[in-house]
Amino acid sequence: MRAQKIPAALLLLLIAIDSLHANRRKQKEKIVQTAINICDISDRDSKVHCYCENSQDINEAIKTECWVFNGGIDRADPLWSSFTSQMNIETLAFNVRADGGLSFVPTRVLRYLRKLTQFSIKYSSIPKIESYTFVNVTSVREMTLTKNQIVVLSKHAFFNLPNLTVLTLDENKIKKIETETFYELPALQKLFLTSNNISVIEDGAFRHLVNLLELEIDKNNISELKKECFDGLANLKRLDLRKNKIAILNSFTFIELWNLQELLLDYNEIYILAQRTFDGLSQLKKLSLSHNRLVTLVDGLFEGVRGLSALDLRHNKLKRFTFENLRPIYDNLKLQKSYIFLEGNDFDCDCHLAWMHKLRHETKSSKVRTSFENFVCKFNSDLSPNSHFTYYERIDTKNNIDSDKIRDDADNTDEFHDEIDESYLDEPKRVRGDNERTLLQIPVELLPCPAEVKSVTDRTYTYPSQNEAKDYRNLITTSSISPVGINISVFLLSLLLLLG
Ligand SMILES: *[C@@H]1O[C@H](CO)[C@@H](O)[C@H](O)[C@H]1NC(C)=O
Ligand SMILES: *[C@@H]1O[C@H](CO)[C@@H](O)[C@H](O)[C@H]1NC(C)=O
Ligand SMILES: *[C@@H]1O[C@H](CO)[C@@H](O)[C@H](O)[C@H]1NC(C)=O
Ligand SMILES: *[C@@H]1O[C@H](CO)[C@@H](O)[C@H](O)[C@H]1NC(C)=O
Ligand SMILES: *[C@@H]1O[C@H](CO)[C@@H](O)[C@H](O)[C@H]1NC(C)=O
Repeated sequence: MRAQKIPAALLLLLIAIDSLHANRRKQKEKIVQTAINICDISDRDSKVHCYCENSQDINEAIKTECWVFNGGIDRADPLWSSFTSQMNIETLAFNVRADGGLSFVPTRVLRYLRKLTQFSIKYSSIPKIESYTFVNVTSVREMTLTKNQIVVLSKHAFFNLPNLTVLTLDENKIKKIETETFYELPALQKLFLTSNNISVIEDGAFRHLVNLLELEIDKNNISELKKECFDGLANLKRLDLRKNKIAILNSFTFIELWNLQELLLDYNEIYILAQRTFDGLSQLKKLSLSHNRLVTLVDGLFEGVRGLSALDLRHNKLKRFTFENLRPIYDNLKLQKSYIFLEGNDFDCDCHLAWMHKLRHETKSSKVRTSFENFVCKFNSDLSPNSHFTYYERIDTKNNIDSDKIRDDADNTDEFHDEIDESYLDEPKRVRGDNERTLLQIPVELLPCPAEVKSVTDRTYTYPSQNEAKDYRNLITTSSISPVGINISVFLLSLLLLLG
C-alpha cells in the first residue's frame, strides 16, 4: 500500500510542477509579446508601422522606414521602447502621414540605436527643436529634418553630435538663427537651411562651425546681414544666399570667409554694394549677383577678389561696367573656363564698353566670347555712329577675328558646377527693342563717347574717372591712333558740353 501511495503523491507533485512550468511559459510568452519587433507590427491600430530592409528578424534590420499615422503618437507611448528590438539599425526615417501626428523628436529611439548613422523626419508638426535634443547621439552622420513645421531652434538644439557631417533643415519655418544653436559639431561640413523664414542671423551664429564647407540659406527672408554673422566660418567654400531680400551689402560683410570660393547672391534686391563689400574673399572664384537692382558699381569693387574668374551680373539695372571695374580681374577672364555675364541690363552702346572688343580677342574662354557676341546694348539713335565725336580709331583689323570663325573650346566642362536648380532657370529671351544693337557688331571706333553729355541729365550716369579715361586711351594707342584724333574729339566734346 505504501508503495502505491508514493507514486500517487509523485504524480500530484509532477502535475503541480508541470502547471507551474506552464504558468511560467505563459508568462514568458506574455513578455515576448509586449516586446514588439518594430519590423513586424501586426496590430492594425498601431500608430507606427515600419518597413525594414534586409531582414525583419530581431536585431537584424539595418535600414528602416517608419510611417506615423492613426491619429499620431505621444512621447509616453510604449511603442518607442520597441525600437530596442532592432538595435542594429543604421538608417532610420520617420514619415508622418496626413492622418498622423508627431510633434517632437523621438529622442529615446536615438539613444537606443547606437549604430544609427542616418536619421530623418519628414512631414511632422514639430514646432521647436529644444535645447540638448540630440545630446550624446554620437553615431549619427547625416540628419535630415526637411518639410516639418519647425519655427524655433533653441540654443544648443544641435549640441554634441561629434560625427554629424550633414544637417538638412530645408522647408521649415525657422525665423532666426541664434548664437550657439549649433555647438560642439566638430565634423559638420554641410548645413542646409533652404526655404525657411529666416530674417535674422545673429552675430556669431555659426561661430563654432569651424569645419563647415557649405552653407545654404537661400529662399529665406533675410534683408540684412549683420557685421559678424559669418564669423568663424574660416573653411567655408560655398555660401548660397539666393532668393532673399538683401538690399544693401556693407564693407567687410564676408571678411572672415577667407576660404570661400563661391558666393551666390542672385535674386535679392541689392542696389548698393559698398566699395569693400568683397574684401577678404581672397579665394573667391565665382560671384553671382544676377537678378538684383544694381545700377552702378564703384571702381574698386573687385580689388579684394583678385582670383575671381566667374562673374554673373545679369538682369540688374546696370548702366555702366567700366574697365576700371574690371581691371583687378581682367586677366582671369582670359582663362579658358572663365565667364562674365552682363546681359539684361541697361547698358548704352558707348565707349565705356570698348574693353569688350579687346577682351573678346584676348580670352581663351568660349563662354566669355559667346556672352559678348550676344551682348546687346541701347544705341542712342540721336547720335549718328559716324559723327565726329567718336574718338576711336579702328583697332588693327589683323587682330579682328570674325565671329563666325571662332571655334568653341574643345573643353566645355564647367569647373563651377553650374546650378541645375529648376527654380533658378533664366526667363526666356525677351524680344529685342528697336534701339538695341549687338555691341560687338559696332566697330569700336564708332562707339560714341557721350558720357559727359549724358551725365548732365542722368544723375546715375557718372563721369569716367581719370583712370578710365587713361584706359580708353591705352586701348586706342595699342591700335593706331593719331594724337590729333584725340585732340579733335576732345575739342568737339568740350564744345558740345559748352553748347549743352
Ligand atoms: C551624455 O553623456 C555624458 C557623458 O557620457 C553624460 O554625463 C550625460 O549625462 C549624457 N547626457 C544625456 C542627456 O544623456
Ligand atoms: C564616429 O565616426 C568614426 C569614423 O567613422 C567612427 O570610428 C566612430 O566609431 C564614430 N563614433 C561613434 C560614437 O559612432
Ligand atoms: C515669417 O515670419 C514672420 C515674422 O518674422 C511672420 O510674420 C510670417 O507669418 C512668417 N511666415 C511664414 C510663412 O511662416
Ligand atoms: C518676411 O519678414 C517680414 C517681417 O519680418 C514679414 O512681415 C513677412 O511676412 C516675411 N515674409 C514671408 C514670406 O514670410
Ligand atoms: C592737343 O593739341 C595741342 C596743340 O594743339 C597739344 O599741345 C596737346 O598736347 C594735344 N593734346 C593731346 C591730348 O594730344
